[in-house]
Formats: sequence, structure tokens, C-alpha cells
Amino acid sequence: MKGAVFTEFIEFVEESYSFDTADKMLEPEDGNNKIYTQAGNYPFEELVALVVSVHKTEGVEVGEILYSFGVYLFGKLIRMAPFLMAGAESTIDVISKVDTYIHIEVKKLYPEAELPKFDVTQQSENYLEMIYSSDKKLEVLAKGLMMGAAQHFKEEIEVEYEVLEEEPHTVKFTIKKL
Ligand code: HEM
Repeated sequence: MKGAVFTEFIEFVEESYSFDTADKMLEPEDGNNKIYTQAGNYPFEELVALVVSVHKTEGVEVGEILYSFGVYLFGKLIRMAPFLMAGAESTIDVISKVDTYIHIEVKKLYPEAELPKFDVTQQSENYLEMIYSSDKKLEVLAKGLMMGAAQHFKEEIEVEYEVLEEEPHTVKFTIKKL
């Protein structure tokens, strides 16, 4: 997984929880201190270990941590690549273009990025249905990113999802503009 996701996660933990929680996560008791650079690539399992560390220190559910990280991450990602938002009209518009535009551009910038699949199955101005497929099972993060997009556009949306299959992991999202 891209190092930028790790460096953003560290800042997120410092801002949303505490510096102590972030230090504890980066200096675990096994003595293997962790260092991440934005340009690096690290195993996805390491991100999971960081999230689990915050869960243990703060007593917050893993899903809650990933969800709020998603909300936070959207704003950070578009600051890294503002051109991705040029011409974007609404939250639904942006979310519907994750697979066909945003992540395609991300892949051009970072060929080593491992991106999920989002297939739009129904779309109108205020409604979207899409199928998320990824062995990373990060639908909670995806929901957070969608909510982050809504904050960006100052819109209110409702996002629901239902796991269709565990392996290969597929999840149906329904997104409504309120
Ligand atoms: C609402 C909009 C978006 C959604 C729902 C979304 C969803 C996701 C999800 C769920 C992942 C985790 C990987 C997985 O599940 O397999 C991911 C990874 C990623 N996304 Fe997006 N994304 C969105 C917008 C963006 C934007 C605007 C950028 C701009 C730079 C971006 C760049 C990335 C990058 C760099 C990764 C990490 C890939 C890796 O580590 O290998 N995404 N995205």
C-alpha cells in the first residue's frame, strides 16, 4: 500500500487521538520501530497492525477508526492531486467516477498502487448503486471517503452497504443525496 496512506494515517491519529497513541503505534513493544515515507510502499498488513494498535490503546472499534480515517483522507487526497476535482459537479458525480477516472489517474501517477474495483450498476442525479470488489475488505474506509467527498461539496448523503460475498469480497453500495 502507498506510503502516503501511512503518513496520512499517522497525522490522522495524532490529530484525532493523541501523539502518545501515535508514538505507541509506531514504537510497538516488540522493539521494531516503524518508519514510513510518502513515496514508499508497504504491506497492507502493516496498516492493519497500526489500526489494531490504535484500537487497543483507545478502545475504539476498528471499523470506527477506518471510517473516520476515510472521511479525513478524502480531503488530504484531493489536496495531493487537485486536478482530479476539476469539473466535478457533485458528490454523486465524483463517487461515480472513482473507477473510471480518479483511480485511473492515480494508477498513472503511482503504477504500484493496488486499487479496488467499483462497478456502477445504477445511476441518476441523486442516486448511485455500485459494487465494490477488493480483497482488502475496506468498505468501511470507502464509506468514509464518500462522506469526505460529501463534506467537500457541502452536501448530505446517505451511504448504505451490504456484503454480497465474502470471497471474492464484493459489497453493494447504495448512495442517496438527501
Ligand atoms: C469517494 C471517492 C473515493 C473512494 C470511494 C475511494 C476508495 C478507495 C478504497 C476503498 C481504497 C483502498 C484500497 C482497496 O479497497 O482495495 C482506495 C485506495 C486508494 N485511493 Fe481511492 N477512493 C476515492 C477517491 C480517491 C481520490 C480522490 C484519490 C486521489 C489521489 C484516491 C487515491 C487512492 C490511493 C493513492 C489509494 C491507495 C492505493 C494503494 O495503496 O496501493 N482515491 N481508494
